[in-house]
Amino acid sequence: MKSLRIGLGAAALAALLAGSLATLPSTAATANDQGLRAAARGTGVRIGTAVDATALTDDAPYRAAVGREFDVVTPENAMKWESVEPTQGHYDFTQADQLVAFARAHGQLVRGHTLVWHSQNPAWLTEAAFTPAQLKDILRKHIFDEMGHFRGKIWAWDVANEVFNEDGTLRDTIWLRALGPDYIADAFRWAHQADPGAILFLNDYNVEGVNAKSDAYYALIKKLQAQHVPVGGFGIQGHLALQYGLPGDIAANVRRFDALGVKTAFTEVDVRMQLPADPIKVAAQAEGFATMLRACLLVRHCVSYTVWEFTDKYSWVPGVFSGEGSATPFDENLQPKPAYQTIRETLMLAGRR
Ligand code: G3I
Repeated sequence: MKSLRIGLGAAALAALLAGSLATLPSTAATANDQGLRAAARGTGVRIGTAVDATALTDDAPYRAAVGREFDVVTPENAMKWESVEPTQGHYDFTQADQLVAFARAHGQLVRGHTLVWHSQNPAWLTEAAFTPAQLKDILRKHIFDEMGHFRGKIWAWDVANEVFNEDGTLRDTIWLRALGPDYIADAFRWAHQADPGAILFLNDYNVEGVNAKSDAYYALIKKLQAQHVPVGGFGIQGHLALQYGLPGDIAANVRRFDALGVKTAFTEVDVRMQLPADPIKVAAQAEGFATMLRACLLVRHCVSYTVWEFTDKYSWVPGVFSGEGSATPFDENLQPKPAYQTIRETLMLAGRR
């Protein structure tokens, strides 16, 4: 059971400390009694969203909704390597710091995303010919520098993101090529040293159901546990598409990871569809959101359920999947869809248990 108790005094003080975001407590004053975060209270599951750093500063209704609806936030891009170290040795944490300050001012936790990935790495890293020894030093330094910067302020980190292929073999990345499979264990050991208080996650997509990829994670976590590597959680991204259907065994899959003793979380939930939307697709979408949320609520160690943007206004989907969209619980005008109501009702049911 986790409750949010941020007094107005604390919120105002934190907002003052937040510098450029100092005007924000006006949205926080009534925030805690409304929205999904209020419905989630007492369920043991935190409700979160990915946050677009530019929209957070430029779009007041968006900012108000982030504060009102959610009690955990994930920077959608602002903590990725290319964002924080665009030039080797020169860090820019500006946007990420703003989100951390916003979260503090609004009584929210932060999921850090992400430290070791094959994507959104800076050009200086991917385009130079570093030796394996140099790459190992670079990766270690990245983890210590970034986690050190945020030490004590991040609830959970996606340490290693998307390390497997669909068939359960390790993805061919600069890290696997140079350092071999042990780069994953090394990353978790360094991460634990850098910020011992953070929950350290593996995180991936297409692992909602039981399949070769989720089997690979199950085996990897067991192996890491046997080696006393500090892996603390398994993040199931939850990017689903109506045209492919929902896996039938989501709850069973979450349950088997729960039984390993690690935390679980739905970390990037959205349910896209081929446009245009219609009432049946919208209802099926709501069911998709609810199915994943129920799977989380049914187990003991599922700690959060995060949507990957809450509004279609900033969803990544249309830019990547041509002709698809409407993937989030709020439309482009920040009006809630049936998926929103279903998430809220599911949380309220859980809160009454
Ligand atoms: O910041 C630049 C900007 O300077 C430039 O003008 C603009 C022109 O295209 O691009 C901007 O960068 C974009 C970046 O998002 C920030 O908006 C990139 O092009 C764009 O590719 C990038 O997309 C992100 C994507 O990860 C990259 O792989 C999405 O916003 C983000 O939602 C998405 O998130 C990932 C998770 O991290 C991991 N799981 C899958 C998920 C969806 O792909």
